[in-house]
Amino acid sequence: METDASRRSPRFNFRIRKPQGMLARIFGRLRPYRGRIAAGVAMLAAAQTLRLLFPLITREVVNNVIPNRDFALMWRLGGLLVGLTIIRLFLLYSRGMLFERMSQDAIYQLRTDLYARLQAQSHAFYDTHRIGEIMSRMTGDLEGVRNFIMNFCQTMCEQAIMFIGALAFMGSISWLLTAVTLASAVPLTVFAYFFNKKIRPAHAAVREQNAVLNTRAQENIAGVRVVKAFAREPYESEQFMKDNQKVRSLHMNATLIWSNFNPVMDFLSSLSVPAMLLVGGTLVQRGALDLGSLIAATGYVWVLVNPLRMLANFVNVYAQGLSSAEKLFYYLDLGTTVKDPREIEEPQARLGHVKLENVTFAYRDQIVLRDVSLEAKPGETVAIMGATGSGKTTLLYLLARFYDIRSGSVMVDGVDVRRQSLPRLRRSIGFVMQDTFLFSDSIRENVGFGQPGLDMDEVESAARTAQAYPFIEKLPQGWETVVGERGLGLSGGQKQRVSIARALAYDPKILVLDDATSAVDMETEADIQRGLAELSGQRTTFIIAHRISSVIHADQIIVLDDGQVAERGSHSELLEKKGLYHQMFMDQVRDFVDLDGVKGA
Ligand SMILES: Nc1ncnc2c1ncn2[C@@H]1O[C@H](COP(=O)(O)OP(=O)(O)OP(=O)(O)O)[C@@H](O)[C@H]1O
Ligand SMILES: [Mg+2]
Repeated sequence: METDASRRSPRFNFRIRKPQGMLARIFGRLRPYRGRIAAGVAMLAAAQTLRLLFPLITREVVNNVIPNRDFALMWRLGGLLVGLTIIRLFLLYSRGMLFERMSQDAIYQLRTDLYARLQAQSHAFYDTHRIGEIMSRMTGDLEGVRNFIMNFCQTMCEQAIMFIGALAFMGSISWLLTAVTLASAVPLTVFAYFFNKKIRPAHAAVREQNAVLNTRAQENIAGVRVVKAFAREPYESEQFMKDNQKVRSLHMNATLIWSNFNPVMDFLSSLSVPAMLLVGGTLVQRGALDLGSLIAATGYVWVLVNPLRMLANFVNVYAQGLSSAEKLFYYLDLGTTVKDPREIEEPQARLGHVKLENVTFAYRDQIVLRDVSLEAKPGETVAIMGATGSGKTTLLYLLARFYDIRSGSVMVDGVDVRRQSLPRLRRSIGFVMQDTFLFSDSIRENVGFGQPGLDMDEVESAARTAQAYPFIEKLPQGWETVVGERGLGLSGGQKQRVSIARALAYDPKILVLDDATSAVDMETEADIQRGLAELSGQRTTFIIAHRISSVIHADQIIVLDDGQVAERGSHSELLEKKGLYHQMFMDQVRDFVDLDGVKGA
């Protein structure tokens, strides 16, 4: 139950760092678009300045049109108003398009970089990061950063321009009224600050819980067959429901804070108008201010107060944007331990010569391989045997440098793998992984994976050797049959054979078969082995297997025991040793003899 509980509460894997420089980094990414941003801000400033002219037109109407019954002026002012509005709408529309384009381009670039970074990560990264979490970053946090950019460039900029503009325009009418309005907004600003302090963690909690919920859904849908096999649907539904309820109640909590605070905010922001009218009315009565100016000033009150009211909201958007950005930059900043060396050394020829010398390897702190040495000459077949968990898969992962070793050396074609170009090294090794993964694509594309433009002849011949040809031909859509996610729709043995064909079509110098025929019947396995034997001599082959029949013809057999080489030699040599291999052999033979005995009885 304990392991269950730990799976139950996905924790996310990023270091919380000081957001110092985070803003600078976001804006650093906007540098290529600075021309567009400047144009957009200029348009915004122009549009809002036009908007700030409206109360002045009202003043003209009150002070000059009405008392003088100057209808000609009224028409002119009316025309001006319509003209300004049209220009303003055009400016706002263009600025909207500019900013939208800019933010989409910026996010497109960020997404591309992020994806490239994720592709560059080594196995160790994927050992410790959940898919659900990564997906969350690729979607939710990217959107969070985009929101922030849009909000910053559009709303924050707009409000700042409006505030400064209103300050100038209203100030030109009366500094006293401006001061009164600002003073009356102080309680609002203070209140908004406290409101923000309350609402921010509430929003953060909603986002985190959403990510938890997504991860759970993603895992359970991916593992739905296991869930069903164990009839755990009610349990999983209940777990999901609990997380879902949490999301709902956290949302409600945030809404409640909002609903409780909002009326007070509304009340506080509406205080400015009576305060201003009180002072303004007195000034008019005393003849210190004309009526038109007072009416115009009321037109600026809201423009001045609104940015103050929204200040808290900005802090919120800012905090959200930074927290999303922080998670994204965490991925972008991740170094890769396994990467190309500065100076690449190429083997003189790629022949498939493999040599491990005193290799010790650990996953984080757990030592998995100790002092392992082996050599496979070009064209040889080496079998690796050993109990489950003894380190067979790990050992062969090291050939392609999926992980770096602690000590010793892994040489492929005479050069340490750490000094070779990674893509070229991996190009020379074909893997049939222990857990078969096929892409949801046609079988032809799966077999020709990674080799666009591969001849159909080569694809077919690989499939023939892998004994996949007969069943592929029989499929209703043949080679064009699209297999489901992870190869859904094919049997386990069929998937394995497609996977072997994929490795063969890659035509590697070193072929690694990790338990590649475990799901294939013995007769088909023998056929595959015969096919491979025909091609042997052209490539070095590593076979991990549990069945003696799979390894019997290997040039050498290495038996691993708890990460160490326990025995090595050919089948007959190992039998003579009467050690672990002999033991395995006897166990398997005994099974047959016993079965025979049963039949005979
Ligand atoms: N990604 C990983 N992170 C941490 N430990 C791992 C990882 N992969 C394997 N191990 C551990 O390393 C040890 C060797 O695993 P490995 O997969 O190499 O065994 P194996 O011999 O291939 O077993 P099997 O026959 O079951 O496939 C095991 O104890 C396993 O728990
Ligand atoms: Mg394994």
